[in-house]
Amino acid sequence: MTIVSGAGAVVTGGGGGIGRAIARRLAAGGARVVVNDLDPDAAAAVAVEIGGLAVPGDAGTEQGVRDLLAAAGGHLGEIDIYYSNAGTGAGTEPDPPEDLWQRAWEVNTLAHVRAARALLPGWLARGRGTFVVTASAAGLLTMLGSAPYSVTKHAAVAFAEWLAATYAHRGLTVHCVCPQGVRTQMLANSGPAGEIVLMDTAIEPEQVGEALWDALTSGKFLVLPHPEVLDYYGLRAADTDRWLRGMSRLQRRIEEASG
Ligand SMILES: NC(=O)c1ccc[n+]([C@@H]2O[C@H](COP(=O)([O-])OP(=O)(O)OC[C@H]3O[C@@H](n4cnc5c(N)ncnc54)[C@H](O)[C@@H]3O)[C@@H](O)[C@H]2O)c1
Repeated sequence: MTIVSGAGAVVTGGGGGIGRAIARRLAAGGARVVVNDLDPDAAAAVAVEIGGLAVPGDAGTEQGVRDLLAAAGGHLGEIDIYYSNAGTGAGTEPDPPEDLWQRAWEVNTLAHVRAARALLPGWLARGRGTFVVTASAAGLLTMLGSAPYSVTKHAAVAFAEWLAATYAHRGLTVHCVCPQGVRTQMLANSGPAGEIVLMDTAIEPEQVGEALWDALTSGKFLVLPHPEVLDYYGLRAADTDRWLRGMSRLQRRIEEASG
């Protein structure tokens, strides 16, 4: 369980969507929040609203993470909670170019690796720290229409699991947040696959914030704002061929709908 009141927290991609809802929820729970975003105005607006500090920058580069941690550490003293949320949809074309794959890898996976690498020594010395990753249900299942998104979100889940397995006994708490559709700009940009597969069951970013809040209290690793994802995840493991047949049917529906 993570004590939020008085904690120093960092949220990447906190200027909009899920990150903004998380930053607001943490601040409402008494955390002192540093809001990072690529968009300086968006970061500033959220920081003003919640009485936090805006640190604009790119959480998807090594230098960006380093600069963010330096500024956040200077302001907060200790970083108790690091919420690695920023992500990229990585396009919707069937055969994305190399640079899209690379950017997806950097933002959706390596951003978590880089932040954890920098934070772990201090956290292990203190015997506590909370690391949260926004992966996606795509990281447990798949995201039709985007191979880079699916692959790099699976990697994000794998890294979060690895961190928890390796360091839980030394005081590290890890949460991996895996929603399906959430009504944000990213969902609006997700093309026909997002429209057909995710829109009907999409939830509000605030519901992700509440699901995370419950997990911070319970200590639960996997945060599933759409509880049905657990059933799909179980089916994928227990009968992968049946699950793939279902995915293939969905893919055909998407192709028919997009003409
Ligand atoms: N929206 C969904 O349906 C959905 C579902 C599952 C997981 N997710 C994941 O949730 C996270 C947040 O997505 P969202 O839907 O809120 O997206 P969004 O596009 O609505 O908001 C993301 C915010 O992050 C910022 N951002 C983007 N790249 C950044 C970077 N490299 N560094 C710093 N800031 C950056 C953007 O400027 C924006 O303010 C992502 O990791 C995404 O993959 C989203």
